[in-house]
Formats: sequence, structure tokens, C-alpha cells
Amino acid sequence: MVGMDTSLLPPPDTLDTDPAPTAAPTPHAARTRNATKIYGRGGTEVRALDGIDVDLPSGRFTAIMGPSGSGKSTLMHCLAGLDTLSDGNVFVGDVDLGSLSDRELTRLRRERIGFVFQSFNLLPMLSARENITLPMDLAGTKPDGEWLDTVIQTVGLTDRLSHRPSELSGGQQQRVAVARALANQPELIFADEPTGNLDSTTGTEILGFMRYAVDRFAQTVVMVTHDPVAAAYADTVLFLADGRIVDSMAAPSADRVLDRMKAFGA
Ligand SMILES: Nc1ncnc2c1ncn2[C@@H]1O[C@H](COP(=O)(O)OP(=O)(O)OP(=O)(O)O)[C@@H](O)[C@H]1O
Ligand SMILES: [Mg+2]
Repeated sequence: MVGMDTSLLPPPDTLDTDPAPTAAPTPHAARTRNATKIYGRGGTEVRALDGIDVDLPSGRFTAIMGPSGSGKSTLMHCLAGLDTLSDGNVFVGDVDLGSLSDRELTRLRRERIGFVFQSFNLLPMLSARENITLPMDLAGTKPDGEWLDTVIQTVGLTDRLSHRPSELSGGQQQRVAVARALANQPELIFADEPTGNLDSTTGTEILGFMRYAVDRFAQTVVMVTHDPVAAAYADTVLFLADGRIVDSMAAPSADRVLDRMKAFGA
């Protein structure tokens, strides 16, 4: 326990049922236990997450696939502390997100997590550049100029930096969102269909770049995708259906992922 901030551990009365935290660094960047999310009540109740146990290894690239409505975005939002579970636990490293105050949660998100939303979530009054550096401006930290240039170049935004989102195409907005998530090199990056709106060349570059961030900097990437080719960039693919993880595939290839999707009629 030496060196651990014990104020971030679950209260002692929950330790009997939770896996005991250990002093060794966790091999998992994030994990869930019995993650359950229920929207609505009574007749309109939707069980978006139905008791998910998932371990997302550190320094790895994990893809999440599954039919529309299977709970992919909900799972990512809960893992990133953007939404709360109805039951169960989410851990980022050793920290149980349910044990944090709003302020602590905001801070953890800012410092450790980058998120590419399915619907970009850019601020309309800010330029592309300001949107990209917003998380760092909020956190009061300075971007690493060299890294920022690399990110901006890779996503192909160098000549669009002063434009506002309304002056950018959907694909360009998506690239701003990807650059924003990568800009401060967070240890954990969540990307919800980051290449869904991109032409295949830009999509390939962004996937290659995320792969590079994992291989070179041991960043952890979790990506939702419907595209078997995109999924093949990952180390592991998790398949979701009806709020549950129904299968996983290590060292995926596009062909094997496609076969798997066909087998499930997805
Ligand atoms: N805010 C909400 N209120 C009520 N139901 C919701 C809400 N958000 C999601 N749901 C429901 O939860 C289920 C899972 O939704 P989710 O957005 O996680 O699916 P998804 O796998 O990301 O789908 P897609 O591939 O279409 O993005 C769906 O049935 C959806 O209708
Ligand atoms: Mg979704």
C-alpha cells in the first residue's frame, strides 16, 4: 500500500465484495465489475448494460463491436466517467469512479482520459486549434508543442486551425475531435467510431496513429467501430450484444472479424 493514495480506495465496508486493491501497479487501465445501466422505468425500461465484467489491459488497443443499440457508447461513457452506472463498479487504474466526488471525477477525466465522441462535441465558438487544446487549457497545462504539431499534421488539419466547427466538414470536425483526445497524451483514450465519418485515407492515418500511440507510448486505446478493417488495428476485439460481452477475439484480422459478424448476423 506504500505510496498509494488510500483516500481514493473504496470505503472499507465494500472491500469484502470488491477485488482487494494491491500495491502492484494494475495491469488494467480500466475495468468494470457487474456494470449495469438501466434507462427508464417500468414498461419503458432499457437494460443498456447487463452486468458487464471487462478488463481493459494497459498499453493495449481494444476494439468494441456489436449491433446498434447493444450498449457500446453507454459502456464507453461509463468507463470514462461521463455517465454513471445503475449498479456495479468502474475502475480507472485502482480508482473506483463511484467513490469520487464530482470534482475528483472531473479532475481524473481531464488528467487521464481523452474521449472522441460519436457526435464530435466540439464547442462552436472556438476555433479548431482552441478546441484541440481546450482540455489542457481547462487543466491549466501546456501542450507539448512537438507532439501537438505531430497530431495536427497526422489528422491533416494544419491549414484549418483557425476555422470554427461550422466552417468544417463532418470529417474535418471528426479529425479535430481525434486531435483533441490525443493532444495531451492521456493514458486512456476512448474513441466512439472515430473513423465513421472519414474518407478511407484519413481513416487509415488516424487508425495508424492510434496504433503508434499504443506501441510507442504505451497509451491505452478503446475504440468502438462497425468496420472490420478498423477493428483489425486492435490487439483484441470485444463483441457486445444486448448489453453483454458475448465474445472476444485476440490478434484480429479483418476477415476473421467479418466472419464473426456474419455468424452473429450483425
Ligand atoms: N439517454 C438514454 N435514455 C434512454 N435510453 C437510452 C439512452 N441512451 C441510450 N439508450 C438506450 O440504451 C441502449 C444502448 O445504447 P447505446 O447508445 O449504448 O448503443 P450503441 O451500441 O452505442 O449503438 P450505436 O451503434 O447505434 O451507436 C439502446 O437501446 C438505447 O436506445
Ligand atoms: Mg453508439
